[in-house]
Amino acid sequence: MRKQIMVSIAPLVSTFTHKFVRNASTTSSFFPSQFDSYFEPNPRDRIYTYNRDIETLMKSGSVDHALQLFDEMPMRDIITYNIVLSGLKRNGLSKEALYVYNQMVSQGFIESSSTFSTVLGVFSQEGLYQEGFQVHNRVVVLGLSLNVYVGSALIDLYMNMGLVELALRLFNDLPERNLATWNQLLKGFGEFGMSQKLQLYYRMKREGVAPNPLTFCYLLRSFGNERVVDQGRELHSYTIKVGWAESDVFVSNALVDFYSACGSITDAEKSFEVIPTNDVISWNSLVSLYASNEIASDALRIFSMMQVSGKKPSIRSFVGLLNLSSRNVNIIIGKQIHCFVLKLGFDHGSCYVCSALIDMYGKCGEIESSVSSVPRKTIEVCNSLMTSFAHCGIVEDVIELFGLMVDEDIGFDEVSLSTTVNTLSRSTYAGLTSCKLLHLCAVKSGFAHDLAVSCSLIESYSRFGDVKSSRQIFNQLSSPNVMCFTSIISAYSRNKMGTECYKLLEVMINKGLKPDKVTFLCVLTACNHSGMVHEGKMVFESMSTVHGVDPESQHVACMVDLLGHKGLLEEAEWLLKQTQFNNDSAIWSSLLRHCRAHHNETVGKRIAETVIKLEPENASSWLQVSNFYSEIRDFETAKLIKDIALARRMQRDMFTPLRFK
Ligand SMILES: *[C@@H]1O[C@H](CO)[C@@H](O)[C@H](O)[C@H]1NC(C)=O
Ligand SMILES: *[C@@H]1O[C@H](CO)[C@@H](O)[C@H](O)[C@H]1NC(C)=O
Ligand SMILES: *[C@@H]1O[C@H](CO)[C@@H](O)[C@H](O)[C@H]1NC(C)=O
Ligand SMILES: *[C@@H]1O[C@H](CO)[C@@H](O)[C@H](O)[C@H]1NC(C)=O
Ligand SMILES: *[C@@H]1O[C@H](CO)[C@@H](O)[C@H](O)[C@H]1NC(C)=O
Repeated sequence: MRKQIMVSIAPLVSTFTHKFVRNASTTSSFFPSQFDSYFEPNPRDRIYTYNRDIETLMKSGSVDHALQLFDEMPMRDIITYNIVLSGLKRNGLSKEALYVYNQMVSQGFIESSSTFSTVLGVFSQEGLYQEGFQVHNRVVVLGLSLNVYVGSALIDLYMNMGLVELALRLFNDLPERNLATWNQLLKGFGEFGMSQKLQLYYRMKREGVAPNPLTFCYLLRSFGNERVVDQGRELHSYTIKVGWAESDVFVSNALVDFYSACGSITDAEKSFEVIPTNDVISWNSLVSLYASNEIASDALRIFSMMQVSGKKPSIRSFVGLLNLSSRNVNIIIGKQIHCFVLKLGFDHGSCYVCSALIDMYGKCGEIESSVSSVPRKTIEVCNSLMTSFAHCGIVEDVIELFGLMVDEDIGFDEVSLSTTVNTLSRSTYAGLTSCKLLHLCAVKSGFAHDLAVSCSLIESYSRFGDVKSSRQIFNQLSSPNVMCFTSIISAYSRNKMGTECYKLLEVMINKGLKPDKVTFLCVLTACNHSGMVHEGKMVFESMSTVHGVDPESQHVACMVDLLGHKGLLEEAEWLLKQTQFNNDSAIWSSLLRHCRAHHNETVGKRIAETVIKLEPENASSWLQVSNFYSEIRDFETAKLIKDIALARRMQRDMFTPLRFK
């Protein structure tokens, strides 16, 4: 039995021993001390004394001193290890705890339930799931899996891993369950958004376990996250009945959080009023509730009350208030909030706060302020501002910021360059000249060979119609990767040069590079525009068969247009039917347009039927079909269908299937 256990834990031991520095000293001090113990009259008494001292030291936080005693001990027992392990865990020294655990196992000590619950707790905290599984094995081997403490620790571990079903199974297997285990399960169910929380709660009551305030906090929190008002209200009335709604600080705050999350202002206010100011925890919920409901005065009132009682605003509060001032274009409130942000140091930590600030100044038209609000201007800070601008679509400011970086000698790097180049085509003012200027900057600063910079230049030149320059940049790349090939192919595709796209795709494949969805879409778009049926078919064929890239609806739409335009209507129909997009009414209608253009009655009638079948509710499908029938000079059917379309518009629900001739 012992041997089997040692085997299962072996990888664990090797993972931790070499990571841990205390290794050498403990082993060396161990042997002489053991020798000492021969001179001791009663070693058991000595262990007891040591254990008590170590426990006292651990509890007072003197971990080093405790470990010193632990090292000195001539002999230890399982209690020694349990005390040391839980002491280390309590003091946040997970690595050390795991080392001691491995030492204990390799010296042949058998874990007790308390050892397991400590160690599993450490694994769970540290996300060491593989190791957790191994220890679960040991639990099973040692027959402790039905112990309520070990069981709880395992449930916690699996909940943290997201294995909710498994956790529930362990839970159901436990012969007895205490309140803590129930709460733990409810908490986990809440965090994973599982729907059976209320059933679980009723089952708990049926099994005779009385809920405590914590139970309600967990339940209310998850009902708030999911915004299920009714179930939350049900719990609320229960907490009123037992008196916790007012007497228990945590429950009453949870109620405020819950109603705020559900956007129910009156209920949130009512629950808030009964809490003595000193006991309020849920300030932030109210601030964001008022902010998102545009009640600026109350949001600010609660915000300042919160300051007075010394509570720290959360990121959500700040973002809520900044959003509010941004929506109302209220720079005065915005700046006040910004002062608080600076005072509390949130501007460094949170990208949410940063981008809310940028957004606010952007909306209020004060981009200068957002740049000068940055305490120390470095390339990195400017780059992150720049990416935020680009992300928010404040294109002109990206370009302005780049200028500022050059003017103020902050400098720039490949990220600033490629971000700026990428935004050029979205700007109203920039043109080919801006692109050339940035290209020059790239060459002068030595970033011209950076792949990201080159790709953005290739794209940008082509967007301004200068594909020649795109090609020149591409040709200068010594080893272009997939991204570069895709950029140049897309540059040609954008300018409707199908042959070049197709040739470059071949070059790329011959080089052993793997084209992706985007590359293929560019090539197919170009084939469609240039009417290259043969090439288009080959490329489309090879996508899934040779390159393992599944076509998406856009790829199929290109092919259908390409074939349909050339009058290869049956082939287009066949191709579309083969794909999983055979229910995509937009592609079918586009095919019907081609049938109309080619006056093809046979194929067109079939397609018309499909279009109607797919979207019988849509009046514009009926109109399109009617137009098709007038095109093939079947005016009678055309009129009939048109009448149906008009009737359908007025009376959408009364659908009667139509018989085609
Ligand atoms: C703030 O606004 C942004 C974008 O407008 C939005 O994504 C975010 O959810 C909002 N946050 C809050 C707390 O209102
Ligand atoms: C195919 O090309 C035609 C003609 O240039 C164009 O109208 C159509 O939108 C293109 N189809 C797709 C899916 O790009
Ligand atoms: C309709 O198109 C198919 C090919 O897609 C062709 O075989 C058939 O002859 C066409 N019919 C007419 C009337 O043009
Ligand atoms: C088409 O069918 C697929 C399943 O084959 C489905 O996922 C998709 O939602 C359907 N699309 C439409 C527009 O009905
Ligand atoms: C009806 O079909 C047209 C064209 O296919 C499409 O643009 C429109 O969004 C559809 N309307 C609805 C309500 O599905």
